[in-house]
Amino acid sequence: MPLGGTMACEKPLAVVTCTAPVNIAVIKYWGKRDEELILPINSSLSVTLHQDQLKTTTTAAISKDFTEDRVWLNGREEDVGQPRLQACLQEIRRLARKRRNAWDGDPPPSSLSCKVHVASVNNFPTAAGLASSAAGYACLAYTLARVYGVESDLSEVARRGSGSACRSLYGGFVEWQMGEQTDGKDSVARQVAPESHWPELRVLILVVSAEKKLTGSTVGMQASVKTSPLLRFRAESVVPARMAEMTRCIQERDFRGFAQLTMQDSNQFHATCLDTFPPISYLSPISWRIIHLVHRFNTHHGDTKVAYTFDAGPNAVIFTLEDTMADFVAAVRHTFPPGSNGDTFLKGLQVRPAPLPAELKAALAMEPTPGGIKYIIATQVGPGPQILDNPCTHLLGPDGLPKPAA
Ligand code: DP6
Repeated sequence: MPLGGTMACEKPLAVVTCTAPVNIAVIKYWGKRDEELILPINSSLSVTLHQDQLKTTTTAAISKDFTEDRVWLNGREEDVGQPRLQACLQEIRRLARKRRNAWDGDPPPSSLSCKVHVASVNNFPTAAGLASSAAGYACLAYTLARVYGVESDLSEVARRGSGSACRSLYGGFVEWQMGEQTDGKDSVARQVAPESHWPELRVLILVVSAEKKLTGSTVGMQASVKTSPLLRFRAESVVPARMAEMTRCIQERDFRGFAQLTMQDSNQFHATCLDTFPPISYLSPISWRIIHLVHRFNTHHGDTKVAYTFDAGPNAVIFTLEDTMADFVAAVRHTFPPGSNGDTFLKGLQVRPAPLPAELKAALAMEPTPGGIKYIIATQVGPGPQILDNPCTHLLGPDGLPKPAA
């Protein structure tokens, strides 16, 4: 465990900084069977996005000198009493205690009585429908585990923060098995394939709106569980077969199958939102234009070259293969001409500029909507959480307080 400096009163301060990725579900989690333990009504499967483009960085520090647990998010102090934060902290301390009790050599340094300070930052807008809570809680679980010396499975710690967060504990392609036990011990995340498995796969995030969403996932899925018969049908009769089929598509790198199922599952999730009473609607008119664009693009090519998926917000996440990226970005630029930000419209991975072929333009048959998409982030499949060794990366200073932003 790295020791990062000392307190004014010379007591050691253990400091660890880690990063964790965003994940995007291709088989969606929607609905809990246990609100407290965050146990889902169906299994789900996601793709971990690369941290070069999207990540959370978290520093955790423990010291005998700290008088209370404290948490800062993007520079602002948060209420540490929030039930989900408390659940994560209690769970990690329970695992640390278990490990200490099982220890049969010299006792490990006791950190359990110490209070913890945590600072976390995202390099992307929080609550913009870009799964910031997933990266955030995965990073919290991973960092706390390192600072408290916990080595066991962290699914439960991350899951208690936000269900989808347990899938951000691994890179590549990850399933969250719903489990059957009432204590949730078998509700865990597992890697289906590593990030190196499908190197041609690319991801484009089309940011439609960076505003905070109207109905949060937690509240939205509670309402769906209570009122949507379609959601029950989906969980019991649709998802089990889809999980198996999606796993096959990934293992065989069957893009067509992967893409079609991804779109169908996104559409069914949004159908359960409409089936909720009162209805929930996350897709905006721009989201619908993106859906039409993708289908027309695919029809023009006579093959499924591109897929969309939408979470609890209007932003689209697009999957495609490397050889189709430039053409699809040209189609997006044509349909949603950037405003004055033409140079910075495309962020992340480099995409070679490509002219839009006249036949494709005709096939799209869409009137341009200037400014409909604010910007695009081009990324790919990436690894799971990482520990940062360089003390310069710590977000907390030697006094245990957030360093002033550079
Ligand atoms: C639509 O994990 O944010 O993104 O467990 O209540 O925190 P809580 O919900 P959350 O829900 C994510 C829902 C989704 C689909 C998915 O990521 O699987």
